[in-house]
This record gives sequence, structure tokens and C-alpha cells, in this order.
Amino acid sequence: MTGPDAATEPDLVLPAVPRAHLADVTAAYRTLTGTAPEGVWGAPGRVNLVGEHLDYNGGPVLPLALAHRGLVAAGRRTDGVLRLVSAQDDAVWQGPVADLAPGAVPGWAGYAAGVVWALGRQHGPLPGLDVVVDGRVPVGAGLSSSASLTCGVAVAAADLLGLPGADAGDEPGRRSLAAACVRAENEFAGAPTGGMDQAVVLRARAGHALLLDCRTFDAEHLPLPAGGPGQVELLVVDTRAHHALVDGRYGGRRAACERAAADLGLERLTDLGPDDLAGASDRLGDEELRRVVRHVVTETDRVHRVADLLRRGDLASTGPLLLASHASMRDDFRISVPELDLVVAASVAAGALGARMTGGGFGGSAVVLCAEGGAGPVGAAVHTAFLAAGLPAPGLLPVTVSAAAGRVV
Ligand code: GLA
Repeated sequence: MTGPDAATEPDLVLPAVPRAHLADVTAAYRTLTGTAPEGVWGAPGRVNLVGEHLDYNGGPVLPLALAHRGLVAAGRRTDGVLRLVSAQDDAVWQGPVADLAPGAVPGWAGYAAGVVWALGRQHGPLPGLDVVVDGRVPVGAGLSSSASLTCGVAVAAADLLGLPGADAGDEPGRRSLAAACVRAENEFAGAPTGGMDQAVVLRARAGHALLLDCRTFDAEHLPLPAGGPGQVELLVVDTRAHHALVDGRYGGRRAACERAAADLGLERLTDLGPDDLAGASDRLGDEELRRVVRHVVTETDRVHRVADLLRRGDLASTGPLLLASHASMRDDFRISVPELDLVVAASVAAGALGARMTGGGFGGSAVVLCAEGGAGPVGAAVHTAFLAAGLPAPGLLPVTVSAAAGRVV
């Protein structure tokens, strides 16, 4: 933010305005094809309340879907060609569906094309499609703009082509779409994501967090009473410190977890309980691996405790667990950055009940739990702290706990 009000006016990013967004993506589709799309589908971003870097360790996670949605306008073609357009930069990628292969499509288009490729692996070759994507989940903010993109394309393709999972109520279909999206990101686009993001984007329910067991991918929908009258509030703070899954640091943590599990003779680190921690630490020679294991074991325990509190309808009491989760990611797993630590410190100083970095780490966003009416003042205090530290103004996103991807029109 620039200008005279920069020090006093927080940069409040409100949820997207669907009508204008819909008009934009429809117009972009008309520019591409000369016709109206056969439909428009929307897929949310996500924020994880607690349970970080546990999905690829087969542990529990507790994410929720945001109101911010990427839209996908799409229609079928008869010539076997896939055309992809991004409304953000008017870039077009096109090529025969039959020629899609991992690594062959660069950039954002690789995520969308990867879905068509992965669905083809599940169901046999797909016909051609025209697809316009219009992302409104901030990119690089650790809020899963990539899962919003892949899951939006997946739901659109499923609906247009009669594949399972078009309907949010089709649980097995949604699981299979999520698996295709993970494959698209891992194998086609080369992003080592662990499965949490695609599951919540495709399976979330409004007003609920998704307690997901990433060993089985079974889920429980836990009511998350936030943002309404008389309820606590959740605020996401985008630090503007850019997070990217493909820069190697996320993969480095994943590799350390695999090394620790192998050294301990375990299939997955989340097989360890809190009582096993001391013995496991003694058996690991490397201090870095001890810290990694401590994060995974204590974070798993925190997810179960937060889930228990949610079952009792007591989101407000999760604050200390969220703070402990942040400390674990800062000190043990070492994926925080000064901007994220500043959000947590400034939020707590301004009266927040809890706060923690969320997502892959090394930048991105934090989630802050505030008392009723607290998100505004806490956000303003974080904004002021960032400017005082010489940092760009953070993005402030009040959370509406939203529903999974689906057809818009
Ligand atoms: C990123 C990945 C997820 C998960 C989180 C960390 O968002 O895409 O699969 O590993 O980081 O919890």
C-alpha cells in the first residue's frame, strides 16, 4: 500500500464478489471461443487450522475452505485439443490431449493440463476442452491457489464429461478427483504436495473444518463456529513473503521426515505417540532429525486436542495449542520466517487468543484466532507492526468457513 494513509489504513482483502468475477470469466471464455461456456465452476482456497507437514507423514490435519474462489469456465471440443487460458495474464496454452505428458506443459497451465492427463489415467482418454481459469486465491500466500486451480478444473471436467465426483455429495467420487489432482500436481507439474489441500478443496463443508486422517483419507466434518454473531473470529494474514512448493525447501523437510522414519524402522513418523518420543530421539544420531520427529509427534497430538475441543464446540480454547504449533514450526521444524513470527507476536500483543503460520511455510500466511469483534483491531495492530518493521503491508483476509468446489452456473 502507498499514499498518505498507508500507516493507518489496513489493506483489507474482502472475499471475491461473485457476480463481477463470474462476468469476467464468462467474458474471457467468449473471447476465446465466441460462445458461452457450458458452465462455470468454483474452487476455494484453504487454510489449515492445525496439523502442518503431517499429511505426507500419514497424520491428521484440520483444514477449512475459504470464501476466496478460483473460477473455471469450460466447454467441450470435438477435435481432441485442450485449450487453456488464464484470465490473469491472457496466456494461452494449447495442444492435443493425446500428447499430454508429465513435464511437457510449463507454469500454471501444467497444473490444469495435469488434471486432464490424470483423469485420463483414471477413466481413459478425455476429449478436447476449452478451459478459462480465473484465480482469485492469492498466489504464493500459502492458501492453496494451486489446489484451487487443479480442483476447479477437475470438477469442471467431471461435470462436463459425466465422471464421478461432479457432485459434492458424491464422497467416493470426490476422493477419486482429489487423487487425480494430487497426481497432476506431483507427477505432471512437479509440485510435491501431500494431499491435504486437494481433499479440503473438494470435500469441505461450509461452517466446518475437515478432520482428515491422511493415512486412510477418511474425514470427519467438525463444526467450526467462527465469524458469526457471538462467535470467535478467524483472520488470515498474508505476509506477502512469497511461499512456493517447488523451490526445494518443502521437499527438503519431506525428505528429512522420510530419513527419520527409515532410521527408526517405521513406515511413517505418525506411528509414534507422545510416549515414544524420548526413545525415538535417543535412537536418532542427528539433531536435525530429532527436531523433525518432535514436531511431527507433538503436532499430531495437538491436532487431536484441537479436534476434541471442536467436538465440544470450544474453538476459543484452542488458542494455546495454536501458539504451541507455531513454536514447534519455528523452533523444531524450522519452516517459519521473521514475517510469520511477527504476525504471531503482534497478534498476541493485540489480544488474539492464538496464532500460527499455516501451510507449507518459508513465507505465506498465518491464521489468527480472535475473540468476537477482535479481528479488526488485531489486523490493524499487525498492519502497524509490519510498517514499523519496514515491511510491506500484509493482506488481511477475514475468514468465512466455506464449502467445497462445485458448479456455480
Ligand atoms: C502445502 C502442501 C500440503 C501440506 C502443507 C503443510 O500446503 O501442499 O500438502 O503438506 O504444505 O502442511
